[in-house]
Amino acid sequence: MKILVTGARGFVGARIMDEWNEAIPAPSLRGANEDAIRQLLDTVDPDVIIHTAAISDIPACEKNPDASYQANVEIPVWLAKTGVKLVAFSTDQVYSGCNDEGPYREEAAEPANLYARHKLEMERRTLEANPNTVLLRATWMYDMPIYRIANRGNFLVNMLRNKELSFSSTQHRAVTYVREVAYHIMEAASLPGGVYNYGSENEFTMMDTALWLKKTLSLPIMIHDAGLLHNLWMDCSRIKNNGIHFNSTLDGLRECMEDYGLCEISR
Ligand SMILES: NC(=O)c1ccc[n+]([C@@H]2O[C@H](COP(=O)([O-])OP(=O)(O)OC[C@H]3O[C@@H](n4cnc5c(N)ncnc54)[C@H](OP(=O)(O)O)[C@@H]3O)[C@@H](O)[C@H]2O)c1
Repeated sequence: MKILVTGARGFVGARIMDEWNEAIPAPSLRGANEDAIRQLLDTVDPDVIIHTAAISDIPACEKNPDASYQANVEIPVWLAKTGVKLVAFSTDQVYSGCNDEGPYREEAAEPANLYARHKLEMERRTLEANPNTVLLRATWMYDMPIYRIANRGNFLVNMLRNKELSFSSTQHRAVTYVREVAYHIMEAASLPGGVYNYGSENEFTMMDTALWLKKTLSLPIMIHDAGLLHNLWMDCSRIKNNGIHFNSTLDGLRECMEDYGLCEISR
């Protein structure tokens, strides 16, 4: 099977390339138009596109809405219009304006920022263009840095690098080990078209999750209460019912720490 990965040098894309090393990295799609996308697809002729390229920084999207619209809506819609099976990343931020506490099922989306509004529009329009499209609403993901690959600020690295951090003692959201996201991606590619919450679940608040990590790794970090923050708590039953099972947030962190020998380092 020919797999084309966009954003192949990005945070998620690089891990997908590492897991599925026969996959083909797409050239950068920055500033691409519909013709360029069509030409790329004609040349590569993939069976599936794993689309990770995006502007995923919330303030960057607010600052430049046109760039966000092109990257986060138009490019994925052009990919969907080629008719090739598309697996595209969306975000748990689509739940940022929901009124109830959650956990949120896929039908409940109510975005409260521009990035999330663009992602939600992308979901709707890619499905209109190709009903076979799989949209994966991802949680905040983490990994340790990889040599010569850009790393994003993420929960684990932030906890390891900082002396003080704030997390909400009421906010429910999950964080997911990005290696699991990459590991399951071809199972995701065989899902029927539609929207899926895709990642770990978390029964603990972010404050309790951070305190657990602090204790487990004996980290010299002060954790403050960030006060009330909106929940981004996803119910992942739909992917589980389709046979895709992620670790819980704490088990995912344990697995990552084992992969990198972090528990031994902290002893
Ligand atoms: N990281 C997270 O925790 C997180 C959480 C929820 C959802 N997501 C979603 O998961 C996907 C992957 O996230 P990520 O963290 O891997 O993203 P990332 O590393 O910030 O970016 C991925 C790639 O997007 C491409 N890109 C950047 N600006 C672009 C633009 N203006 N037009 C087209 N392409 C552009 C870049 O590839 P080139 O250098 O090749 O152009 C970049 O390497 C995104 O859809 C994101 O919204 C991520």
